[in-house]
Amino acid sequence: MNLAEFRAQFPGLERCVHLANCSRGALSLPVQAAVTRYLEDWQDQGAPWGLWMQTWERARTRIAQLIGAQPHEIALTDSASSALGAAARSLPPSAGAVVIEERSFPSAYYLADALTRDGYTVRLTRDAAGDTPLERAANALEGAATFLIAHLSFQTGELIDPAPLVALARAAGARVALDGYQALGVVPTDVAALDVDLYLSGSHKYLLGLEGFAFLYVREGLEVSPAAPGWMAADDPLAMNTHARALHRGALRFQTGTPNVAGAYALDASLDLLSRLDPAELLAHVRACVRGVMDTCHALGLEVITPLEAERHAALVSILSPDASAAAASLQRSGIVCSPRGPALRVSFHAYNHAGDLQRVCDWIAQHPHHFRSTEVHA
Ligand SMILES: Cc1ncc(COP(=O)(O)O)c(C=O)c1O
Repeated sequence: MNLAEFRAQFPGLERCVHLANCSRGALSLPVQAAVTRYLEDWQDQGAPWGLWMQTWERARTRIAQLIGAQPHEIALTDSASSALGAAARSLPPSAGAVVIEERSFPSAYYLADALTRDGYTVRLTRDAAGDTPLERAANALEGAATFLIAHLSFQTGELIDPAPLVALARAAGARVALDGYQALGVVPTDVAALDVDLYLSGSHKYLLGLEGFAFLYVREGLEVSPAAPGWMAADDPLAMNTHARALHRGALRFQTGTPNVAGAYALDASLDLLSRLDPAELLAHVRACVRGVMDTCHALGLEVITPLEAERHAALVSILSPDASAAAASLQRSGIVCSPRGPALRVSFHAYNHAGDLQRVCDWIAQHPHHFRSTEVHA
């Protein structure tokens, strides 16, 4: 499927310029049909547990194929944040420190407070000594059990190469949990090649599914345990055996309650659609769009905090703004949807964004430079 054919699956894109993919992907015809089918199956069949279980398994299999894992290495969770919590608590406090890499999503920092309360030693690499993220990580990792890393920063759009951080973690004897939410769907990802122990992401951004449906990959054979298993972690959930309790031997032991059924229908459909694209073409396309925004900003002297080099970003470009929410609201009135977070307006692309979308946002930026910080102010 080429990019124009892909775009044709998203009729809503004729009504708004959707550039908020780092926050929420657009609705496709297959996902709309899948969610309608979920409602019809529920209405017509009442409580079709067998059908739902099959749908969870299809979604699990598609996730596994996407990241180069096996289906039994995937636990379905309700959010990326809960998957992150499960990863951080998969070893007891006595195993060693939990270290949080500085480009992590805010959930990791809130988790840090709760872990500390519960007796864990927690270290933030941003507090460690050293001039570079790598040096600070090296200094924070001594005696670590678990290292939480984000593949792509939600704030700056920086795509990191996890390899040197993974090597540091290995040298310290720590397990690595990689949060791929801002990368997966546009950055080809293979958990075996990345050599990570745990990996997590969710459906509603670049994977184009629903909210409330996320996952945790747990490498086969990894000696970790769930801190809060539920009945869906059982080897045979429907047996309801509270005496001879056996957790699933695979990653499913990290599941809790009933997974989001509509979310599974939707992700099955959206991953099927995404699998028809050439992954290399998709990544090159979003990088070219990001470069277009960067060139516009640089020509206007506006401050972009995303690394310029193509291999250090993917689909997201962040521009500093004195009031990013006001900029986003004004863009919205012009029919362009972007995502304000912290000090930056985030503009993020997907395969369906075409040259016209890029032109619209670049024209808007050129006409509204006062919504952004100029490099001169910060020189
Ligand atoms: C990198 C990253 N991790 C985690 C999350 C949190 O996802 P969830 O809302 O599913 O917990 C986000 C959401 O923006 C994110 O960008």
